[in-house]
Amino acid sequence: MKIISIVSTKGGVGKTTLTANLAGNLYQQDKKVLMIDADPQPSLSSYYKITKQANGGLTEVFVDPAKINDCISETQYGDLIYSNDPHNQIQSWLTNQGDGRFRLKIAIKKLVKKYDYILIDTQGAKGNLQDAAVLVANLLITPILPEATTIKELERGTLSMIDGLKGCEEVGIKVPNLLGVVYRLDNTTDASQFTNLLFTKNSEKYQILTTTIPQSVVFKEAITQQIPVTEFLNGNKKTVQKAQKSADAIIELSKELNL
Ligand SMILES: Nc1ncnc2c1ncn2[C@@H]1O[C@H](COP(=O)(O)OP(=O)(O)O)[C@@H](O)[C@H]1O
Ligand SMILES: [Mg+2]
Repeated sequence: MKIISIVSTKGGVGKTTLTANLAGNLYQQDKKVLMIDADPQPSLSSYYKITKQANGGLTEVFVDPAKINDCISETQYGDLIYSNDPHNQIQSWLTNQGDGRFRLKIAIKKLVKKYDYILIDTQGAKGNLQDAAVLVANLLITPILPEATTIKELERGTLSMIDGLKGCEEVGIKVPNLLGVVYRLDNTTDASQFTNLLFTKNSEKYQILTTTIPQSVVFKEAITQQIPVTEFLNGNKKTVQKAQKSADAIIELSKELNL
């Protein structure tokens, strides 16, 4: 089982879209997939149509990790632990639990045989819940918008959050290196130039993947239709043509990550 957390201390960068599309594509390849929505604004929870709704969600998982199996809903593109914490109470509640940041890790241990992949979508901020998602991950992915301000934000935000957890390695919890995906690349941006700039900055702290994800309306259309962009490849010729580049990028990313 591989656990993939999609993180960024910034909102609106594409975390949820990337999580849903990677998960959906793995599901299409007959993999056993679980999505976990760890954002109090539950966009991942409503991305795909729910076909079987569990009584509990992420709140119950944290309250009683042993009951995680009762908190798993089913969607058209994989299983889901939905977010049911609209007032963001888990964050502060976790502060008062000795094992707070480790509860997700404890819970997920119960699922090792059940899933090939667990993908965790997080909120664009720093906090206990994001820490919990980092500490449970084998792969840490962050979408990187090709804009000048991105690098500073990456250092101040996401990288500093991960740095703050590196001490856990002293007690045997591995904190994976951050993998950046250049995201929402448009035709006007020179990807290689931007990537080179990122590399010169902090290459020992993160790695930039070769695959880039294009800026495309196809991603928005997929959200509206509650499908992954790769589902468009099953459509008519015109649909395939329109979605090809975006769908290929998701497939390529999955390959580069060895999923
Ligand atoms: N590759 C893309 N091309 C165009 N629009 C995108 C792409 N990925 C995401 N979006 C749009 O960008 C917005 C933010 O994406 P979202 O995944 O919700 O970010 P986050 O989860 O980091 O807040 C959404 O409106 C989404 O439809
Ligand atoms: Mg989101």
